[in-house]
Amino acid sequence: MTAMVAAGDAALAVEVRGEGSPVLFVHGFPFDRTMWRHQLAALARWKRIAPDLRGVGASTAPAAGDGYSISRYADDLVAVLDALGIRASAVCGLSMGGYVVFDLLRRYPDRVSAVLLVDTKPDADSPEAKRARDELATVAEREGPDAVIERLLPRLLAPQTQPEVAAQVRDMARRWSAPGLVGALRALRDRPDSTETLRGVKVPTLVLVGSEDQIAPPGVGRVMAALVPGAQFHVVPAAGHLPPLEQPLATTRLLADFLATIV
Ligand code: MLT
Repeated sequence: MTAMVAAGDAALAVEVRGEGSPVLFVHGFPFDRTMWRHQLAALARWKRIAPDLRGVGASTAPAAGDGYSISRYADDLVAVLDALGIRASAVCGLSMGGYVVFDLLRRYPDRVSAVLLVDTKPDADSPEAKRARDELATVAEREGPDAVIERLLPRLLAPQTQPEVAAQVRDMARRWSAPGLVGALRALRDRPDSTETLRGVKVPTLVLVGSEDQIAPPGVGRVMAALVPGAQFHVVPAAGHLPPLEQPLATTRLLADFLATIV
């Protein structure tokens, strides 16, 4: 089922499937909840919860410039858990979704029972990366999501990834509103370094990374995993920045194996 959940000045579309211990899936940029489609279909032992973040997909898009930040996205996830009557959940975030998980860990640690980090990284943007965010925000305002995704796609997928995955990625990007895109790019630009947050994680943690990821490469994932006491680390072969779509079977198995050990 897909529910609409009130979250401050936004309403979020949230896909909820199955029963069991909850796992909350948080998509990256510029994707939507359908990037988890294979995992939502396959992880039948768990209650799967996957929102579209504000500004994308079937969620509403606040127009206010201050309507978007990593903390706003995290507040929205807490509203989703509250609406579903869930105190604490395993939380699985890819890339920007991981940055949102870091914020949850900082401000709502008691709402997170386990952490699954996929192709993400703890550091803040460099000055050069911040400038690139602003340039891309200008592209988003002037030319829209198609132009944004064409600039990002060359670095997103492994060379051997099936062409239909690129088509899925374009479809997801087209579901972003202009305020959502610009707001997300500012949120990404302004996010803090999360190294210390990771050192303080007290719940079971899995770090996954695609072997060919150019945005959050395996070396970065390995160092990140080493920050978290007791974290597991795995590389998904033949995947770039989107293992859940590029190598769905291998990714689902690694997530399921980890989840089975903890809940
Ligand atoms: C994502 O997939 O969410 C983005 O690559 C995050 C980023 O650009 O830092």
